[in-house]
Amino acid sequence: MNIVLLGPPGAGKGTVAALLKGALEVPHISTGDIFRENIKNGTELGKRVQGIMASGGLVPDEITIEMVKDRLSKDDTASGYILDGFPRTIGQAEALSGIDDIDAVLNFVLDEEEIVRRLSGRRLCKSTGRIYHIVSNPPKVEGIDDETGEPLIQRDDDKPEAIRHRLEVYKKDTEPLIVYYREKGNLVDIDASPSPEDVLKSILSALKK
Ligand code: AP5
Repeated sequence: MNIVLLGPPGAGKGTVAALLKGALEVPHISTGDIFRENIKNGTELGKRVQGIMASGGLVPDEITIEMVKDRLSKDDTASGYILDGFPRTIGQAEALSGIDDIDAVLNFVLDEEEIVRRLSGRRLCKSTGRIYHIVSNPPKVEGIDDETGEPLIQRDDDKPEAIRHRLEVYKKDTEPLIVYYREKGNLVDIDASPSPEDVLKSILSALKK
């Protein structure tokens, strides 16, 4: 099953994807994670996108589409995948429709106050990408990853100015995809406000239907 996770920054897409991939046994492909991995490894791609990401802007479509096309050609996607953070523009959605058929687009719905609360309290482990929240999902020891013992970091784009910009970009470039996919008939709204486990349950029951 090929699934797209759509929704504003901080709605919990990455958190739920980590649970959903276990339930469906398909890979979780996050464009944000791939870009962050490239930045961490100092690749040419990482150097090109670092400033754009830190400010909360979007990486140009041609770069992102090429990267996703390449990732979706790998063998592990043969029985499906969870695409998180792509498409984010109408141009990306049109490119995706030429690459593969999408079975379901899960639209995470969450109010802005809670989005800002989630983003400003998010912390992560740089090497594993494991996601925490200082209030709702804290590590066992403050500031330290539970498994690797490494210090947790705050993403550059989780600083207040970048959060504001990401929300503006989401409304302008990504929100139109809700209408785009609703018209195609494969969009399902998901209330992202309950716990990650409850969001997972509502997704699994929606997918069964
Ligand atoms: P990306 O990494 O995709 O960021 P995003 O879409 O903005 O999403 P986030 O990772 O911020 O949030 P999330 O919904 O995954 O929430 P999370 O689970 O972490 O993209 C980053 C950047 O890369 C972009 O700005 C852009 O520059 C570039 N980029 C990526 N894709 C691109 C594309 N297609 N085109 C162009 N540019 C692209 O949760 C957030 C917090 O909430 C955590 O602390 C978590 O613990 C907490 N939380 C999660 N769920 C719950 C819950 N149910 N209850 C309580 N707390 C919760």
